[in-house]
Amino acid sequence: MGMQDRVGMKDLDAIVGRAAAEFAAAADPAALENAKARFLGKSGALSAFRASLGSLSIEEKKSAGKSYNSAVEKIEAALEARRAELALAKMDARLAEEALDVTLPGRGRGRGGLHPISRSWRRIEEIFASIGFEIADGPEIETDWYNFTALNNPENHPARSMQDTFYVDLKDESREGAGLPLLLRTHTSPMQVRYARAWVERFRGAPKVPPIKVIATGRTYRVDSDATHSPMFHQVEGLWIGEDVSFADLKGVYTDFLQRFFESEELEVRFRPSYFPFTEPSAEIDLQFGSGPLKGHWLELSGAGQVHPQVVRNFGLDPERYMGFAFGSGLERLTMLRYGIDDLRLFFDGDLRFLRQFS
Ligand code: PHE
Repeated sequence: MGMQDRVGMKDLDAIVGRAAAEFAAAADPAALENAKARFLGKSGALSAFRASLGSLSIEEKKSAGKSYNSAVEKIEAALEARRAELALAKMDARLAEEALDVTLPGRGRGRGGLHPISRSWRRIEEIFASIGFEIADGPEIETDWYNFTALNNPENHPARSMQDTFYVDLKDESREGAGLPLLLRTHTSPMQVRYARAWVERFRGAPKVPPIKVIATGRTYRVDSDATHSPMFHQVEGLWIGEDVSFADLKGVYTDFLQRFFESEELEVRFRPSYFPFTEPSAEIDLQFGSGPLKGHWLELSGAGQVHPQVVRNFGLDPERYMGFAFGSGLERLTMLRYGIDDLRLFFDGDLRFLRQFS
């Protein structure tokens, strides 16, 4: 072996050593690829050695070639090993970053529940639908005509101030009822008129208008606030008009409704004579608290009565032929009695400790 070879071999070992060191020092794949170019690239450290092989004898070439090949192999092996190490490190870092502790207790999702008033609303609709009542609804912003006049409340009649309410400034003159005062409806009774007039219109020209049998539930508004009154509350209006619907039917239907709503046949129900401009005769329907701090107290649930002939006329029907009853009940009142709640304001406080009891 000549002098040149020995120096060449030593150089090769040094190159392999340096390559291994530089690969190990490369902190990321880009640095590693740069290091690779410095050793295996066209102008890398091995190329010079390779170029010098040309001047050697065949024998020398053989052994130098072997050494060269084995150096290349070693460098490539070191490169591969480092590549694998870096890939593994990257995976480890990602796993650490995205680690999930599956043993932690879950946070869960807040579960919603129906508000007790919504529960009553659904219950009432189910009960009346099961005995053939249609379900309707209508606007909370109402015209003076539907809310009062059509219900036989003449202008300046004191009954208007019994239901003093919130008036709305009408700006948009193109709307229905433009020019007339608008208000937040004080009761759901305007729905009697809206529904009946639409129904009668549908059967215009027919020899007979089929019975009107409907309930309408929704929000109502009055200037009122104490333990049993809130400025916003809910009512359900009922209307049944036909050729022979009597006050006895009102008593039967309403008592049946109460028994089903309260799931009890031993209710103390009272029909107390009263006055409404749109019914004659009129009654208020009271129910006795069965338990809780108000046990024994009567709570007014509903106004009711035979629809006044003038209102039947406003429906577009002949009061000599068509008659029937209407009622309007407070949902808050029904709900208070059902659950033994003694302050209606609890419904609107949004206190979860109260509301959770119903979900
Ligand atoms: N609208 C009346 C009220 O809110 C209740 C009622 C409805 C009375 C239907 C008679 C008939 O007080």
